[in-house]
Amino acid sequence: MAPLDRALVFIGFMGAGKTTAVGEVGLALDAEMLDSDDVLEERFGHSIAEEFERNGEAAFRAKEEELVCEMLAYAGSDSVIALGGGSVLSARVRDALEPHVTVLLDIDVKTAWRRAGRGRRPLAGDPESFAKLYEQRRPLYEELADVFLPPDIRPLTDLTRALTNPAFGGVAIRALPWLRALAAFPPGTRLLWAAAESGEYPVLVGRGLVSAGDEDRLARIWPFDRAASRPFCVTDETVGELYGGRLGKLAESIAIPPGESAKTLATAERVWRELAHAGMTRADHLVALGGGVVGDLAGFCAATYQRGVPVVQVPTTLVAQVDSAYGGKTGVDLPEAKNYVGAYHQPAAVLVDPDTLRTLPLAELSAGWVEVLKTALIAGGALWERVCAEAPGLPPEERTILACARLKLAVVAEDERDGGRRQVLNLGHTVGHAIETATVYGRYRHGEAVGLGLLAALRLSGQEQLRAHVRELLSARGLPVALEGVGVDEVVAAVAHDKKRVGAHIPFVLVHAPGDVRVGCEVADRDLRAAVAELVA
Ligand SMILES: NC(=O)c1ccc[n+]([C@@H]2O[C@H](COP(=O)([O-])OP(=O)(O)OC[C@H]3O[C@@H](n4cnc5c(N)ncnc54)[C@H](O)[C@@H]3O)[C@@H](O)[C@H]2O)c1
Repeated sequence: MAPLDRALVFIGFMGAGKTTAVGEVGLALDAEMLDSDDVLEERFGHSIAEEFERNGEAAFRAKEEELVCEMLAYAGSDSVIALGGGSVLSARVRDALEPHVTVLLDIDVKTAWRRAGRGRRPLAGDPESFAKLYEQRRPLYEELADVFLPPDIRPLTDLTRALTNPAFGGVAIRALPWLRALAAFPPGTRLLWAAAESGEYPVLVGRGLVSAGDEDRLARIWPFDRAASRPFCVTDETVGELYGGRLGKLAESIAIPPGESAKTLATAERVWRELAHAGMTRADHLVALGGGVVGDLAGFCAATYQRGVPVVQVPTTLVAQVDSAYGGKTGVDLPEAKNYVGAYHQPAAVLVDPDTLRTLPLAELSAGWVEVLKTALIAGGALWERVCAEAPGLPPEERTILACARLKLAVVAEDERDGGRRQVLNLGHTVGHAIETATVYGRYRHGEAVGLGLLAALRLSGQEQLRAHVRELLSARGLPVALEGVGVDEVVAAVAHDKKRVGAHIPFVLVHAPGDVRVGCEVADRDLRAAVAELVA
């Protein structure tokens, strides 16, 4: 393999698996492998635990800082490095990481405790202080990471086979082609590794990735060799005009009318037939360039055309960049109900360019922000605080887009097919979707309807204070807080068609507090009617 342009440096909390990842990646690249903890122990002549006992943590950190800065200064394109979990506490170390590709092995606190806790490391004595340390360090890791690798959902790896076939390696090996592509990029582009039961794919987030129209750069991260697999693009007329020419040579580009009313079986049929006319084969792939409508429709066409071809999602709206491009739900609306026909079809890759949001009309940006708000309500904590404080009228900060994408990917990794946990993402959507159907997909943008759905969900949750706060946040963005042009009966009738319905029961997603959202909640008919009636102006 050709050498990397920047070193790969693995960071993360205790038990994240940095040493294993460096071993695997180092071997695959035939690179210099360094582990700061190992080098320190060699220098001390005893274990880190003993060093803590003899000289205390502060003295250890000073020595660690010296060593890590030295390592990073000399790290070249052929180095793969694991850093001790606490080394990033040093500002000098954080600065020294700047030129390299910093790879975060993400791990949840429970798994970390299972692997590294119970006194096996100096700072892993009791679960409470372990969890506190985890929460302290997490924002630092997240700020530094160029790459986020989730915990491996395929536990068994076979290193010998991995050398010839990455599918048998750990997550770092499977993501290696994209780590290498990123290493050849200027800093600033980030990689999230998406894992789901049915497959894994890279999510690349970078300003100018698409909008700059740099074909060489795009080619380096494109998941297919375009000579062997031709790209066929589905976009809408507005987005095609703006960005259709920025994706390099396309075998064909099909532009559908913009907006929700095009998300139909008739449009899907038109796309299938145009692809057939243009000679698309199963060796080729689709590119979905646009918002959630294009992503859902093109994803559905990809899932079904010749029984399935790959799709690369290139989301250009806020809804799509924070939510719809990930997780593989694809489909179209029926007059009877929203998203009623579709398939699960994970993308081959998602390429996110936040700069495309600059051309998004303000009303679309505001509507898209509702999905950000929904995600923040589910996540709670720092994301909730930040989203509440964000100024209306501007695209969210890139770290907010990243945080939303990561939450969605984590939820999907746990439950790809909506069997349990994934239902949290439907917060506000049961009534929201019913409003869209009852208004024939014409009156409200998706995000606007979900905003009204959130207000209904908060009423059903009995969260009056939080509801008032959310109402204020929506109003500040000019989003509707009262339902117009449709009656309570129509909306309640449309709720009855919800896809989540089991017998007579429609499970609702309710909120106890930001960060505490529960699925499968029972709601009485009269309460639902009252919550919808309250929305009617
Ligand atoms: N699959 C999922 O998991 C999922 C999740 C959430 C939402 N969705 C779906 O997403 C859809 C809503 O998506 P949406 O809000 O992106 O709507 P959309 O795709 O209709 O886009 C909104 C408008 O913005 C325009 N546009 C898009 N990108 C632009 C850009 N960069 N500059 C200028 N104009 C641009 C489009 O032409 C369109 O007119 C709904 O159908 C919803 O069901 C799906």
